[in-house]
Amino acid sequence: MMKKALYHEDSGLYLEKMRMAFQEHYEQRTDMWSTDPSLTDAAVMSLKAWRSREKNALASVLDIGCGNGRALEHLSGLSAYVGIDLYEHEEWEGLQKRETVPVHFVHQDFMSWSMDQGRGMQFDLILDHGCFHHQHPDDHERYLKQVSSLLHEGGVFSLVVWGEEWKTGLIGEDGRFHFSFSDSQLGEKICTSGLELVSISPLQAKAGISQHHVIAVKI
Ligand SMILES: C[S@@+](CC[C@H](N)C(=O)[O-])C[C@H]1O[C@@H](n2cnc3c(N)ncnc32)[C@H](O)[C@@H]1O
Repeated sequence: MMKKALYHEDSGLYLEKMRMAFQEHYEQRTDMWSTDPSLTDAAVMSLKAWRSREKNALASVLDIGCGNGRALEHLSGLSAYVGIDLYEHEEWEGLQKRETVPVHFVHQDFMSWSMDQGRGMQFDLILDHGCFHHQHPDDHERYLKQVSSLLHEGGVFSLVVWGEEWKTGLIGEDGRFHFSFSDSQLGEKICTSGLELVSISPLQAKAGISQHHVIAVKI
């Protein structure tokens, strides 16, 4: 297990370290998650959860830590899509051109975007499939509150996080945090951010590691 470094003590320093780690994974093509079907399965399930509540209306979607934007190809019946990521993917341009609905990609940190340009925006469905569990612990509470403020009343939040400790421990070899959460920790976090927990389902990652798929609703 990797030891804590100085940058783990400060969320601003950590953000830069994490940004570089993701950049390196994408450039070296070690982004294993980008071919993991469990995360796009979760996107399909989350849209179903929203539709079953809202009688098949079109959904506006915010995809936090969207990666190459692949969730978009698994979602239909959207009114708009905004994807945000620390790394600017070359696939974004093609996706933006091809889609008939407004598609917008933002190359920025979610926290700063949500408190600035994203402030006041609201979405029907927010996806966070593999992003939250890499954030600095000092940001966890604020991050989920920002998610809640970006949801319309009755809107759905879909979160995929690790359910068990990663084999390298809390801190990966590349310096990124890999937080894992229990059902009760997730329930509490969802509740304190002003959301109502709908379900927590087990979801197996490609690497065999257990994940939780959380569905919550803005009350
Ligand atoms: C495990 S990947 C999952 C990507 C995508 N959801 C998928 O299914 O392929 C996590 C993504 O979150 C992005 N990310 C991490 N922290 C972020 C932050 N604070 N703001 C925006 N994006 C972030 C990373 O660059 C990375 O692309």
